[in-house]
Amino acid sequence: MPKAKILVVEDEKIVALDINNVLNKLGYEVPALVASGDEAVEAVKRTKPDLVLMDIVLRGNTDGIEAAEMIRHRYGTPLVFLTAYADDEILRRVKHIEPFGYILKPFQEKELYSAIEIALFKHGLEKRRLRQQDKLRRSSRRMLKSYESAVNSLSKAVEMRDPTSAGHQKRVADLSCAIAREMGLKEKVIDGIRLAALVHDVGKIRIPVEILRKPGHLNDDELSAVREHPKVGYEILKDVDFPWPIAEMVHQHHERLDGSGYPEGIKDKEMLIGSRVLAVAEVIATMLAHHTYQPSCDESFVLSELIRSRGILYDPQVIDACVVLFKEKKFEF
Ligand SMILES: [Fe+2]
Repeated sequence: MPKAKILVVEDEKIVALDINNVLNKLGYEVPALVASGDEAVEAVKRTKPDLVLMDIVLRGNTDGIEAAEMIRHRYGTPLVFLTAYADDEILRRVKHIEPFGYILKPFQEKELYSAIEIALFKHGLEKRRLRQQDKLRRSSRRMLKSYESAVNSLSKAVEMRDPTSAGHQKRVADLSCAIAREMGLKEKVIDGIRLAALVHDVGKIRIPVEILRKPGHLNDDELSAVREHPKVGYEILKDVDFPWPIAEMVHQHHERLDGSGYPEGIKDKEMLIGSRVLAVAEVIATMLAHHTYQPSCDESFVLSELIRSRGILYDPQVIDACVVLFKEKKFEF
């Protein structure tokens, strides 16, 4: 195993040489002995040590703690502080940097050895943990991408049957994400809401095209065929092993807080938070959309309708987020 490289930052020459000898004796390589904070930062850049032994009180503009902060921030090198002083203020500043070790001078050879070895071990563990976190993050990003492409294909398949609704699910997805973010939901939850929004109307695949494209009012039979689509969507999606309740959100996107929605007529908290967001985003996107046979509504009319039903049909928090988005943040599709 190659020897660990230890940079020594110590402004008292005799002490520095003494530490150097001890380190050499213990089998470490010392790439440089430096006497100031500025030199320390430069020497870390140049020699890339595995660890820095840093004196706290140094002559010059930069003390050991400031230099340590720069080194941790720029290069992530682990540090062990050496000092003859340990007053409360120094300890407070040192703790803030989260060093890998702290030794009071004068110290024994054994103390130095164990402080260095523990610091190197802790740093190794931290590096491994960060690598694993990064790997996990990359693999969940890859997974999200593949979910997205599958969901996008489904979304296109539905919209191809009804060109008048082209882009509707994407618009609902954009607005749902903006609402969810305004409500302060976690990014992971928002990812699920976006995917559910992108396929919320997948169940329309079973509605005959004549009904889908029919302008004007639908008769009772046609209406009940349309009202089946959340259930059909649920059936299509329920066996896909998503890490979010996508099928359930799709199932509930036409439900209302007071139980007047469809297909199950569930109420209040029986609706998932994602479904409560989708329900409102869907209504807004539909009312603001241009149809050849039906003019779109005015934005302030849509908002006032929603506010009127705040807490009755729609989740109050969702409506409040929409008001902020449209009135203050000027949300546009
Ligand atoms: Fe729908």
